[in-house]
Amino acid sequence: MLLSNHNSLSSLHVTMAGVKALPLKGTIGIPTIGLGTWQSPPGQVRTAVESAIRDAGYRHIDGAWMYGNEKEVGEAIRASGVPREEIFITGKLPSSRHSKAAEALNESLADLGTSYLDLYLIHWPVSLNPYGNDPKVPTRPDGTRDIFEGWTIEQTWKEMVDILATGKVKAIGVSNFSIHFLKKLEKLGGIQPQVNQIEIHPYLPQHDVVEYCQSKGIIVEAYSPLGSTASPILEEPEIVEIAKKHGASSAGVLLSWLLSKDIVVLPKSVTPARIASNITAAKVPLTAEEIKQIDTFSERNNKLKRFGTPPWGVPLGFKDWGFLPDEE
Ligand SMILES: NC(=O)c1ccc[n+]([C@@H]2O[C@H](COP(=O)([O-])OP(=O)(O)OC[C@H]3O[C@@H](n4cnc5c(N)ncnc54)[C@H](OP(=O)(O)O)[C@@H]3O)[C@@H](O)[C@H]2O)c1
Repeated sequence: MLLSNHNSLSSLHVTMAGVKALPLKGTIGIPTIGLGTWQSPPGQVRTAVESAIRDAGYRHIDGAWMYGNEKEVGEAIRASGVPREEIFITGKLPSSRHSKAAEALNESLADLGTSYLDLYLIHWPVSLNPYGNDPKVPTRPDGTRDIFEGWTIEQTWKEMVDILATGKVKAIGVSNFSIHFLKKLEKLGGIQPQVNQIEIHPYLPQHDVVEYCQSKGIIVEAYSPLGSTASPILEEPEIVEIAKKHGASSAGVLLSWLLSKDIVVLPKSVTPARIASNITAAKVPLTAEEIKQIDTFSERNNKLKRFGTPPWGVPLGFKDWGFLPDEE
């Protein structure tokens, strides 16, 4: 897929940054490389976001209320000097606020200092008690997460659809949704998620979910595309070898592998040199054979691994993170 788009302005800035955008209904088009902001600490996230936009040419920032840094992200976006309308901003509805989505969104908008988000996602397909002992991750006396019994994901999706109608978000989608959960929303009919943001890298390629989403026209975004913090994948000999062949970096290979499949990548960094290099390095001309090699990496090496494993304590559609097929 090539440059979107619904307006010429977005095509222009996407061209300038050298990053393609995928068409996303109602939006300026989603740039296929976005800066991640999870675990980007106070003080550092401001510099990271500002330099990403102003110096490196990013036009897509992936954030969330849960990351606790939206205020600084908003300040950095304004400080970059690039007009708000040229930047694609994603926010996420936290699990503890599924039943109060409009309120949660308003808070994110106020923190970011913007009147709209380009994309709003349900962060996880699990609802936590909004009246619990913690605003982010309420727990029960036994320490397990305080699941909001009786509240369904279908109800949460209805909240998202209502939000879309207000114009405060240009598009809505989901995150961490397995096929099992996507099918639940499908059964509702009506407006469907436009995006599913999930963990994808060579240890966890999630071919089945990617294929399912793309067959339905749902754009897939890869989080932890480099293998998250202190990633062992960057040192994997097979990846290093491919990188060497192309005179590229491991990070460049991992990002290019995902982009070759029209998967949006969200590399996080607070290091300005890495922020800049990730956007320029994601252009490795991988051969079909190399793509296949990375596709089959985890299977061949018996290295299936998920880095993001919050202890939800409820089935998410893939047994206990065990990577078995979805149960219907
Ligand atoms: N929807 C969800 O549930 C969910 C979950 C996880 C993540 N996400 C999103 O996806 C984004 C990315 O995921 P992630 O933060 O888990 O992991 P990631 O982007 O795969 O990896 C980030 C780590 O890699 C380092 N790094 C960045 N560029 C590098 C390079 N060129 N060479 C070597 N190391 C490099 C960073 O260090 P420095 O920062 O120190 O440079 C950081 O420690 C998040 O920030 C967030 O926006 C979403």
